[in-house]
Amino acid sequence: MNGVVLISGNGSNLQSIIDNAKSIDLKICCVVSNKMDAFGLKRAAKVGIPCVALDETLFNSKLGFDQEIMKVIDNYQAEIIILAGYMRILSADFISKYSGKILNIHPSLLPKFPGLNTHQRAIDASEKKHGASVHFVTKDLDGGPIISQVSVNIDSKDDAKTLAKKVLEKEHELYPKIIQWYTQGRLKLLRNNRIIFDGQLI
Ligand code: GAR
Repeated sequence: MNGVVLISGNGSNLQSIIDNAKSIDLKICCVVSNKMDAFGLKRAAKVGIPCVALDETLFNSKLGFDQEIMKVIDNYQAEIIILAGYMRILSADFISKYSGKILNIHPSLLPKFPGLNTHQRAIDASEKKHGASVHFVTKDLDGGPIISQVSVNIDSKDDAKTLAKKVLEKEHELYPKIIQWYTQGRLKLLRNNRIIFDGQLI
């Protein structure tokens, strides 16, 4: 399945997707970044994946920016759009155009801790467990239907940095697996935002 991956930074999730792409039936046609200096662009270029870096300062509307990404997606006839550390909020037009085709990974056990600084917030809230969620993207920020989650224990010694590392390692296992469910046609989002997995509502 042709896919486009959107990133904003380091791209360690992108790397795990690149490393697993063959076995998960995914062709990464292009990596798009909203940050010109995102390290993930180097990861993609190293293995010959076309990259597009868009300079946010050159666009005066959210939609105008997203329209550039839509051109890339349509140009490659991508059937899956994978947000991998993409930190820009997508426009409503973008989300509705590709409804059911956009996946995101978020570093918390949603619905807990949507938004930013999730690791520190989980520590501050004295949570015993934390983790990551993969969900379909809908217009509700970090609020789309959850497909799968992975958890880690929060130890008394953990700070935001150690916790982020633990969660990220789990993300790298979780995300390719869910992408494969999608590329194999096992996962579908219904119009009512319910998810079908292997023919069953989940
Ligand atoms: C990951 O932890 C990902 O879950 C998070 O950003 C990090 C990106 O790391 N995404 C979000 O917070 C999206 N709201 P990476 O660039 O090394 O993959």
